This record gives sequence, structure tokens and C-alpha cells, in this order.
Amino acid sequence: MHGGRLRDASAHYGIAVADWLDLSTGINPDGWPIPELPPSAWSCLPEDNDELLDAARRYYRTDTLLPVAGSQAAIQALARLHKPCDAHVIYPSYSEHAHAWRGAGHRVVQVTSEKLESSAKTAAVLIVVNPNNPTGERFPLQRLVGCAERLAARQAWLIVDEAFIDATPEQSLVPLGPRPGLIVLRSLGKFFGLAGARVGFVCAPDEVLERIRRYLGPWGVATPSRLVATHALADSAWQQQNRERLSLAGQRLSEILRRHRLLPRGDCCLFQWVPHASAHAIHEKLARAGILTRLFDDPPSLRFGLPRTETDWQRLERSLADVASHLPSTVSA
Ligand SMILES: Cc1ncc(COP(=O)(O)O)c(C=O)c1O
Repeated sequence: MHGGRLRDASAHYGIAVADWLDLSTGINPDGWPIPELPPSAWSCLPEDNDELLDAARRYYRTDTLLPVAGSQAAIQALARLHKPCDAHVIYPSYSEHAHAWRGAGHRVVQVTSEKLESSAKTAAVLIVVNPNNPTGERFPLQRLVGCAERLAARQAWLIVDEAFIDATPEQSLVPLGPRPGLIVLRSLGKFFGLAGARVGFVCAPDEVLERIRRYLGPWGVATPSRLVATHALADSAWQQQNRERLSLAGQRLSEILRRHRLLPRGDCCLFQWVPHASAHAIHEKLARAGILTRLFDDPPSLRFGLPRTETDWQRLERSLADVASHLPSTVSA
């Protein structure tokens, strides 16, 4: 479920990359402002004992964590570290989890979110994305802790992907760990808008971190990325400002969609998810107007990321008004 397919869209629709309004990702469009980096950032090998871990420990409120080259690196490593098993993955969700576990030879069982507790009784590994991408569904902490306990009693894993949780840090499981079998993934790609830097963290018991560390080998996170991540994680003023700003932007996007008869579900300020029987046609119409959304087939749905400038917001409104005027009068959502 990647965003970032702008170049393909540009070729397909014959619209220059620079002319698109790209709403196909859930990345903060106004990410943490990158300062100029010292030249040594490019010439020095990454050092494990720089300031990154201290900044991360304060930000994530835990001592047991491991920096990785984006949470994607951990998703793939975990699937390869586990002996062949039944991995239960919430569906619909970020497809890279199922893809990685299937690719590493496991049997993947896709389960809807109501089945979480029954999966916790049988799965060797249960994977939940919280808040979920693309549905925006949130899983209360107590519910996840209950699953973690049930799984741990059987030496099974609960993997919780919190790539989109940073705007609501009080809902993170990380400060409640480390707990046996609980593995939480964090990302600097979404809230901080630093997807290109490829920085994420795994929060888990030491023995799990040690296995991932050995599997991934040294120097996984580049020095410039470590530097930028250190400063972004320490910038609590920017974080606070962005929690408020993104929350308002999320509400604004939700209201605009509703006004044009598209009913978003879920609760994640970085994107809005709209199940709709005409999702394909809406995606196509918006794309012809140079607005890229993320289309999903099952269920037919669209994910809208946040516009950045006022001009972008108005452009979206105009195109949505046009889309709404062509929608059948009964809306399925
Ligand atoms: C739910 C979820 N988890 C993890 C990732 C991977 O993010 P990164 O590797 O940039 O940390 C993504 C990227 O889209 C995602 O949507």
C-alpha cells in the first residue's frame, strides 16, 4: 500500500510531476524542517553511540529500542527471524506485513479487526497496525495489552505497527513495555514527514532487538539520517505545534469530504479513508484533474492525504465539487 507512485501517474495521465497535487500518501506535507548538515555527516560512518538513542529514549519513553532504516526494514527482518508459523494479520491493512511474512515462507491468515481476540488465542504471530492504514481504525491500549498477555503466555508475538501514532502519543504501547513477545514499530516517515530519511525504531525486549541487530548488521541508518532524526525527536516544540496543526487539518479534510458526499471513516489526522462503491471512478476523475489519491480494491475505497498550501486545499475543494456533481444521488459508504 505504498504512496509515492507519482511518476507512474505522471506517465499514465500525461501530467507533469510538478503539476500534481499528491494526496496518495499519509505523510505530513509540512514535515520537520531539515537544517543544513555538516559535511562530516556525509563522510563519517554511522556511530551507534551518537546522540540518536538518547533522543529516541526520551521521545518514545522507553530504554529498549533499536534504530532501523525505516520500519519497513523491521517488518522484513521480523518475518525472516521467526520459524515457519501461522501469522495472523489484520485486514485490510498495510499490505507489506502480509507480503513479508508470506515471502518468508509463513502461512498468513488475514483477519478482520473483530477477530483480534480469537486470533490471540491461536496465532504464533499477530500483527496489528494502530491506527490502521488505510482504515484509520484505532485499537484501545487495554485491548492490545490483553492480546499481548494472551499471546505471551504461549510464547507468541504481538507486533504492533505504530507508524501513524505520533500525533496521539498517549495511545502508544511503547511506554508500557518492554513486555515478553510485544514488538512495537515506530516510524519517522509519517508525522515527522521524513519518509526519505528511512528512519524507524523497533521497541521490544532486549533479546528480540539483539536478534534483529545481528540480522541487519552494522550501519543500517545513514549518518545524515541519524543526525536529522536526533534533532527531530528532540524538537518537542515542533512536535506539539504539529499535533495541533495536524489535528485541525485532519478535521478540515474530513469536513470537506463530507460536504461533497464522501463519508470518511476512522480516526487518523494524517489521512481520511473513504469506502465508496464508485471509488475507481472518483479516483480516475480526480487523477484527470491532477489530484492523486490512493485507490484500494478491497473494499473499494480511497485514501486522501493532507493538502499542504491554501491553494492546494482550494484545488481539492473545486475538484471534489465537480466529482460530487457527477455522483449518483444515493451514496454508498
Ligand atoms: C502502516 C505502515 N507501517 C510502516 C510503513 C513503512 O514506513 P517506513 O519504512 O518509512 O518507516 C508504512 C509506509 O507506508 C506504513 O503505512
